Amino acid sequence: MRKVFKPSILLLSIIVFLSTKRFSIFVRAGNDIESATFVSESFEVGPGKIAAKTFLDIKFPKGHIGVKSFDVELVDEDGNSVPLYETYIHHWFAIKYFENITLSQNIEQYHDLRNGVVFQRNQGTCQGYMLPHYWGLGAESRGTSSNLPDPFAVELGNPIKLPYGFKEKWMFNIMAIDTRGAHNRKGCTECRCKLLNLPKDFYNITKGIDGQPLSLSYKGGLFCCQDNLQCKLKKGFEGPRRNLSLRYKIRWVDWDEHQVPLNFYILDATDRVRSNGSIAIHDCQAEYTIPRIHDSDSPHVQKANIPMEKGGYLFYGTAHMHTGVVNATLYGQDGRILCTSTPKYGTGKEVGNEKGYVVGMSGCYPKPGSMKINDGEILTLESRYENKFRTGAMGHFYIYLADQLHTKVVKD
Ligand SMILES: *[C@@H]1O[C@H](CO)[C@@H](O)[C@H](O)[C@H]1NC(C)=O
Ligand SMILES: *[C@@H]1O[C@H](CO)[C@@H](O)[C@H](O)[C@H]1NC(C)=O
Ligand SMILES: *[C@@H]1O[C@H](CO)[C@@H](O)[C@H](O)[C@H]1NC(C)=O
Ligand SMILES: *[C@@H]1O[C@H](CO)[C@@H](O)[C@H](O)[C@H]1NC(C)=O
Ligand SMILES: *[C@@H]1O[C@H](CO)[C@@H](O)[C@H](O)[C@H]1NC(C)=O
Repeated sequence: MRKVFKPSILLLSIIVFLSTKRFSIFVRAGNDIESATFVSESFEVGPGKIAAKTFLDIKFPKGHIGVKSFDVELVDEDGNSVPLYETYIHHWFAIKYFENITLSQNIEQYHDLRNGVVFQRNQGTCQGYMLPHYWGLGAESRGTSSNLPDPFAVELGNPIKLPYGFKEKWMFNIMAIDTRGAHNRKGCTECRCKLLNLPKDFYNITKGIDGQPLSLSYKGGLFCCQDNLQCKLKKGFEGPRRNLSLRYKIRWVDWDEHQVPLNFYILDATDRVRSNGSIAIHDCQAEYTIPRIHDSDSPHVQKANIPMEKGGYLFYGTAHMHTGVVNATLYGQDGRILCTSTPKYGTGKEVGNEKGYVVGMSGCYPKPGSMKINDGEILTLESRYENKFRTGAMGHFYIYLADQLHTKVVKD
């Protein structure tokens, strides 16, 4: 996962752009895989602080390309990786959008996304703009692979697919929680409402995922982790504020007939699928609460039955889950296991192995062609956590499907 380039390839050509805050390194590798490392805008955190940010028009490779991987790391101002027990990266989502060129200035300057921005969601089944991203994970980022095997790649920047008058852009939506000095570090990473300095009329003025005022029974999750709120600190704790950024590495190829396009789906274990008689209506909640239950050794299971309008060959799958996860499994309609993603928990102090945190989720790479999802097949997603009170639990399954297994050209 951390393997970068062979030194001989590194020598081929390196262009380094350096400015005080942001830099990018472009490397052209021998096998036509290009790679760039970017650093996002920075954001300030301090002990107990929540940072929930949207960064528009992030740096991204240009042109008609096929992305092979997208890996993210939280770093401080000196570029050092920040351990999860200092700042917990709850999630980062990379979201594609088309921007009306005429309105660009307004959008960038005022962060006004209501006009001139058309989100381009993944092909997943959630409604509207729920879980729209193409890449996105959380604390498990450092130990979770995003590599797509050849000949598959995520096709981007195809000029034919871009409507006239629009530009293809990317944004980050991120949430990071600085838990230094937190009175209840775990509760803080789960966005437990009562640990945060919510405004007095919070439940009156906050609308939930359904657009209705948040219920008083909402004990924790995304809605309580709002930007700049503060988790309760241990008495007298003081620590420095600091600026953090996402450092992200993208590997890609120029698009040509050697790449096979794919469909990327995010499925959500909270999807309450119903039907209006002719089509499936999806109602994803994005997160859920595991209630307090005593004496239960068997895991809590959150389950959704999700019809896939269109199937394909599964060649990669993984899951985004939080601490406490046991595993997540995706089943076919006949009960066959399509993919299971299991956690790796850290055991030490060093970055990437922080004790007690999920530091990676396994992926499955079935031999292309061996695992087929049929059109109209109803998949079952089971998200399993330890059976303990938990807020803001997530069970998102990511699958990459292809219509064809090979390129049409014969390679020599
Ligand atoms: C972009 O926005 C302008 C101003 O609202 C509008 O007149 C124009 O039609 C939009 N362009 C496209 C391609 O939708
Ligand atoms: C919030 O709503 C409750 C009823 O749901 C009401 O009793 C209370 O006065 C409201 N508080 C404020 C600050 O508006
Ligand atoms: C973080 O960056 C901003 C903008 O560059 C700067 O104003 C602020 O002082 C920095 N904060 C810290 C703690 O260094
Ligand atoms: C179900 O919803 C679709 C899309 O909104 C609509 O076209 C269709 O007529 C609806 N069917 C029924 C039976 O309401
Ligand atoms: C997932 O967890 C369940 C419950 O503990 C267990 O029965 C199952 O074997 C696990 N699956 C895998 C592939 O580890």
